[in-house]
Amino acid sequence: MVHSAPTILATPSSHVLTTSNGNPVDDNQNSLTAGEFGPILIQDFHLIDKLAHFDRERIPERVVHAKGAGAHGYFEVTADLTKLTSAHFLQKPGTKTPIFARFSTVGGEKGSSDSARDPRGFAVKFYTEEGNWDMVGNNTPVFFIRDPLKFPDFIHTQKRNPKTNLKDADAFWDFLSLSPESLHQVTILMSNRGTPAGYRHMDGFSSHTLKLVNAQGEAHLVKWHFKTDQGIKNLRADEAAHLDATNPDSSTEDLFDAIDKGDFPSWTVSLQVMKEADAANYKWNVFDVTKVWPHADYPLQKIGKMVLNRNPANYFAEVEQAAFSPSHMVPGIDVSNDKMLQGRLFSYPDTHRHRLGANYLQLPINQPYRARVSNNQRDGPATYSQNFNGEPNYEPQSQNPEGPVQQLHDVRAKYSPVLLHGKTGRYGPRVTENDFLQPGNLYRLLKGKEQDDLISNIVGHIKNVKNQEIVKRQIAIFNRADPEWGRRVEEGLKALKDKKTH
Ligand code: HEM
Repeated sequence: MVHSAPTILATPSSHVLTTSNGNPVDDNQNSLTAGEFGPILIQDFHLIDKLAHFDRERIPERVVHAKGAGAHGYFEVTADLTKLTSAHFLQKPGTKTPIFARFSTVGGEKGSSDSARDPRGFAVKFYTEEGNWDMVGNNTPVFFIRDPLKFPDFIHTQKRNPKTNLKDADAFWDFLSLSPESLHQVTILMSNRGTPAGYRHMDGFSSHTLKLVNAQGEAHLVKWHFKTDQGIKNLRADEAAHLDATNPDSSTEDLFDAIDKGDFPSWTVSLQVMKEADAANYKWNVFDVTKVWPHADYPLQKIGKMVLNRNPANYFAEVEQAAFSPSHMVPGIDVSNDKMLQGRLFSYPDTHRHRLGANYLQLPINQPYRARVSNNQRDGPATYSQNFNGEPNYEPQSQNPEGPVQQLHDVRAKYSPVLLHGKTGRYGPRVTENDFLQPGNLYRLLKGKEQDDLISNIVGHIKNVKNQEIVKRQIAIFNRADPEWGRRVEEGLKALKDKKTH
C-alpha cells in the first residue's frame, strides 16, 4: 500500500474572506482612511499585513537548478536486494515507496527557458519508513569537474558576467579549456542530449558512486540509472531555439499536462554494482565523477520502476520548497569517497538553511513523514511542529524513559567504515590520457547527423568567444580526444568566418 505523500495544511474552505489571523474582512477593495480623502490609518491590519506578506513572497531561488518542475509518484522495487542492502524499502519485490521528483535546468534563473543547452537535474525524494532518501542526480552519468573546490568558480562561468550581466562565452570556454577533465560532460552537453525534448524523455543517473550496505555490514559500490520508458527524445539546436522563443516553459508544461491527462511517465531503475575490493584495482579511480563504468564490465541490473502520477497541488509549497540533499540517507545506503559527493554532502543542507530556514525539514514536502523524527533540535524560525511538547531536549537523560536514545550497537545506524592510507594533502588535479578516452569514444560513437550536430552545436557556441587563445586551447582538447574532432571544429569556425567576410 502506498501512503499518500504529504499534503499541505488545507486552507479554510469557508467562503468568508479573512485576515491572516482569521478575522472576517469587511472590505478588500478600500483601505481604511481618515475621512474620505485622508491618509491611511496604521490600524488597518488587513492592509498592512497584506502588503507586508506580499513584500516577503520571494525566497532566494536555488543558486543552481533554479528553474524546475516536479511531481509525486511511487517507486516499486522489482528485485530482491537483500544481498546488497538492508534498506527496508529495497527488501521485498512489490514494495512501493512514495516519492517526489524534481527536474530542472542548471544555470539559468527561475524564469529561464526549459530548452536551454544545459544538463538537467534529476532529483528524487524517497519517503521511506526509515526516513527520506534523496537521489540527487542529473540526466548525465558524469560531471564537468571532480573536486568541489572548483564548483563555485565553474558555476560563475555559466552565469552572468559581473560587469555586463550578460552570458559570457569567454568565461564558459576559458574555464572548460583550462579544466580538460570536463571534456566528457562537455561532449554530452554539446550533443543533442544537451537539449532534451522535455523531462519525460530523458534518463537520470546518480552519476556519483554510492554505496549499498547489507545487514552483515558488507558494502558494494553502485551507480543508479533511471531509464525513461517514454524513450529518449532530444531537440536539435534550431528546435530548441524555436521553443526558447515561443514556449520557454515547454518541459514544465509537458510534464504537467501528461500527468494531468493520466499519461503517467515512468522510468526503469537499474544498478551497476561493483565489489568494494575491486575499486582499488580498476583502470581508473572509480570515485571520479567525470567517468562512467563501462557496461561491459558492470552491466545494468534492473531493480525497479519509478512512476509519476500526481501533479503538485501548489507549485511553491511543493516544488519550490522541496529540499533535496545527497546527505539525506537511510540505513543500507551510504556515501562513497567521491570528492565531489563529499562536498555536496555539506553544500545542500547549508543552502537549504539559507533558502528555507533552519526548520526546512519540518515543511510538509520535506518531512520524513513515514518515519518518526525524534531528536533534541528545538525552536528556530518557523517551528511548524509541536516542538516535542515538554519532552527533555537533551541526551543522555534519565527523566523520560521513553525519550530518544542513541543506537550505539545498531550496525545499520552507522556509516560503513572505510580503510584509508596515505597522508593528508591536496592531491591532483592529474589530467591523464584516461580523461580523453571516454569522450573520444563517445565522439566516435555518434554517427552521421548526430556527430554533425555535435560539431555545429560546438561551433555555434564557441563562435561567440572573443579571445582566440581560449578557442585554440579548447580545440587542442578536442584534438587530444580525436584529431578529426578538433579539425572539424576548426573547419566549422573557419567556414563561419568566411561566410561573414563574403
Ligand atoms: C542543486 C551545489 C554538484 C545535481 C544544487 C544546489 C546547490 C548545489 C547549492 C541548490 C540546492 C537547493 O537550493 O535546494 C552543488 C555542489 C556541487 C554540485 C557544491 C559539487 C561540489 C552536482 C552534481 C549533480 C548535482 C554532480 C548531479 C550528479 C543537483 C540537482 C539539484 C542541485 C539535481 C537540484 C535539486 C532540486 O531539484 O531541488 N546543487 N552541486 N549537483 N544539484 Fe548540485
